[in-house]
Amino acid sequence: MLVRAGLLLAGVVAIVLVAPAREASAQALSYEFFKSNVQPIFLKHRPGHARCIVCHAGANNAMRLTPLAPGAANFTDEQSKTNFETVSRIVTPGKPTESHFLMHPLAPEFGGGLYHSGGRQFETTDDPDWKAMAAWVSGAK
Ligand code: HEC
Repeated sequence: MLVRAGLLLAGVVAIVLVAPAREASAQALSYEFFKSNVQPIFLKHRPGHARCIVCHAGANNAMRLTPLAPGAANFTDEQSKTNFETVSRIVTPGKPTESHFLMHPLAPEFGGGLYHSGGRQFETTDDPDWKAMAAWVSGAK
């Protein structure tokens, strides 16, 4: 009886110790994927929409992107790292539809935010850019 209880306890301890480690590695956000597939979305002209960077460079909200250097067409490595950290704070790794970053600029019909000053940047969850953002949050490398 005592042995059984001991085994049970050992099992419980093992589960408690192993579970969080496994979860963290499966859901880690990739900087490389962000830099090559997500960050370019902030700079590109998407038909019918103002570019994210226009409003979000140095913005006074959680989606504060680093301003581009005068004349620069892209972010430096250091700026990209800062953007990665900023945007990582408004996502729930592994859960795109629970991530503020993805939901706020999405059309409300798809569960998106009711109001975004920048408009409905993504009309549907089939938007290729939205999908790239979702892939990143889901742990794509
Ligand atoms: C025309 C200006 C404008 C554009 C373009 C724009 N936004 Fe915004 N966005 C805002 C403003 C202003 C806010 C803060 C007020 C609000 O939520 O509407 C905001 C808020 C947000 C927030 C929530 C930040 C917080 O503090 O909760 C996210 C996430 C976001 N925007 C993502 C994006 C993405 C991604 C793009 C490009 C695909 C984009 N926005 C384009 C103006 C803009």
